[in-house]
Amino acid sequence: MRTDKLFSGKTLAILSGGGDTPAINSSIEAVRNRASMLGFKVYGIQKGWKGLLGNGDVVDLTNIPYDGIYGGTALFSSRTNPFPSKKHPEDRSEQIIKNIERYKIDVLVTIGGDDTNGAAKKMYEKYGIPVIGFPKTIDNDLRTRTIHHYKKQQFEAVLCPGFPSGSKAIKKLTSKLHTTNESHQRIMVLEVMGRDAGWLTGSAVFGGAQMALVPEVEMTKERKEFFFEQVKEKYMRSKKKSMIIAVSEGVRWWNDEKRQLDMVYASSDLDEYGHPRFGGISGTIASEINKKLGIEARGQISGYIPRSGKCSEYDRRLTSTLADKVVDLLLRQEYGKMPVMRNIVDYSELEEYHTEAIDMGNIGNFPLPELYYNANDFSFTEQYIDFLTHIIGEPFRMEFNHIFPVVIPN
Ligand code: F6P
Repeated sequence: MRTDKLFSGKTLAILSGGGDTPAINSSIEAVRNRASMLGFKVYGIQKGWKGLLGNGDVVDLTNIPYDGIYGGTALFSSRTNPFPSKKHPEDRSEQIIKNIERYKIDVLVTIGGDDTNGAAKKMYEKYGIPVIGFPKTIDNDLRTRTIHHYKKQQFEAVLCPGFPSGSKAIKKLTSKLHTTNESHQRIMVLEVMGRDAGWLTGSAVFGGAQMALVPEVEMTKERKEFFFEQVKEKYMRSKKKSMIIAVSEGVRWWNDEKRQLDMVYASSDLDEYGHPRFGGISGTIASEINKKLGIEARGQISGYIPRSGKCSEYDRRLTSTLADKVVDLLLRQEYGKMPVMRNIVDYSELEEYHTEAIDMGNIGNFPLPELYYNANDFSFTEQYIDFLTHIIGEPFRMEFNHIFPVVIPN
């Protein structure tokens, strides 16, 4: 009886690039386990593409204990771009090829968003490197061609590992923030990661945020005036004279002094994919609310909270399901593809049956669909609520209404 496995003697390497998420280790573990069952030796490339530059930085993952529930990435990450960029004009892709040969890597799995997988796509197209992309981003803005079925209609949506855990974290955080905000009868402007898309910002609505601003809709001078009117009206109508406004870090906001649309940066230094670092829009909006409406307001940056901590159950199963599809691609030796969910489904329906592999040529940025966000009252629509309910369950808000009888002195 033959006992050797189909791919014995072959090596598969995994790398993760870009911002971390709580679901990367889960993806690495799921791909590693399946690839070793097929007989591959499995390597981990450290720090994204950087680990294939120079002499390389590669570790053996084949039989090593691996904790996939622990968040972040045990392989570390970087925003290294092997192709020329403004920050790094030199083309370093030949160094990658050299190391793929030196380490005898037969297949490369790249866990990343648009940037990391965009570079992987080029490696495949330009040099024929056998790559399989694996989606990842808390921003959820990488096109996965996933269909959301709602009331007999179909919408193109996105489902990226990392987003379910990040989204759950934002829902929980927002839900908690109400108590401090209510105590001071304030408006809190909660800033949420998302450079170009408001997918994650919508999760704050699941924790009770009453209004939301997203990068897809520019806050021009006129829209800003309209926004302030609505803020005032909604605050005055609120039972507790308290309100949370969720805002994506990448919102384009009219600057009254410069008379132009602006973004608020923590640092204007660009990374190797041309991105600046955002941060601070919540403070700007809170101080304008204070000044213009005379209502006490505070900015709160949720920062790295959605990227931190354990992988959620939904993400755990999602990454396993997508890794099942990776097996399919390996068996067929189909490269230049990325496994994705074909449909938005509940946790219990996360099965390989709902997956498919898309051509990496098709990946790119995918913003929030118009039907998910209502720009007329700065809210997320019932379509979006249905979309996210499949992933993180029903909206939740920590709330208690104290009703005290007023004491009137004799
Ligand atoms: O990877 C996407 C992201 O989470 C964005 O939402 C955010 O702007 C960026 O990463 C911040 O990344 P870092 O501060 O780790 O470079």
